[in-house]
Amino acid sequence: MAQLDNVFDDVGTGLPIIFLHGFPFNRSMWREQIAFLSANGYRCIAPDLRGLGENVAQTSVCDDRPDHRLKSVPPAGMDDMARDVAGLMDKLQIERAVVCGLSMGCYVAFDFIHLFPARVSALVLCGARAQGPDDAEKKSREAQAQRVLAEGMDLAVESISNLLAANTVNEKAGVVENVRQMALHTDPIGAAAAQRGMAIRRDYSADLENISVPTLIIAGREDGVRKPEDAGFIHTRIKSSRLEVLADAGHLMNMEQAEAFNQAMLDFLTRNVS
Ligand code: MLT
Repeated sequence: MAQLDNVFDDVGTGLPIIFLHGFPFNRSMWREQIAFLSANGYRCIAPDLRGLGENVAQTSVCDDRPDHRLKSVPPAGMDDMARDVAGLMDKLQIERAVVCGLSMGCYVAFDFIHLFPARVSALVLCGARAQGPDDAEKKSREAQAQRVLAEGMDLAVESISNLLAANTVNEKAGVVENVRQMALHTDPIGAAAAQRGMAIRRDYSADLENISVPTLIIAGREDGVRKPEDAGFIHTRIKSSRLEVLADAGHLMNMEQAEAFNQAMLDFLTRNVS
């Protein structure tokens, strides 16, 4: 059963929104959205997904020898994380919610709506990709899993600027530092488990035409990880969707352009969800 006790934020009252963070990050990436939307009449719930942030109980291994660790960290599946979210909703007695994910959080959102369609009132998909991993991606994820287990999180921290728009890197030192700190404080075992989970995720493309809830897709114009074309692919297949592309934003668009992001989300919620 899910071990999400005490590792989620639950702020505000009103229509519930569940925020699912990206990789290798944690629930603190939604700070600005939680502050803004809770002040605008929404209940904002943001868990740390399994193995990440402070939610490290489920993926810990007993034997700390590096050779043992390389082999023994099992995948944290996207569907496992989706079931954790359903468990959290049960615990909070929430039947239905808006589900908002970013990148890895979108894989979890896709599995969530597939497993629990009646529990989603709307979707917000940020930096999303629906297509499944090919062999090259699977290999690269396994190599990265092994590297973080052997060397820690430096690898992820080194590549942070690839996740951000030029404007963020040049003008927003506070955002860059927050992103760096999140990656640095990620448990390598949890990171390896999530990489292995993402490597075995389903291809969600065929699910898209079955999604009929109001859906807001948000892309960063400068996102080099999940390009605006990935968002376009999803937009053409979910009939009830709307696409927003944010300028001067990369993969972590909600942190990089918090004001524009928050406004887009509030407009969408006000018009489509009650
Ligand atoms: C994320 O931001 O969650 C990652 O880029 C997801 C991924 O590696 O596919």
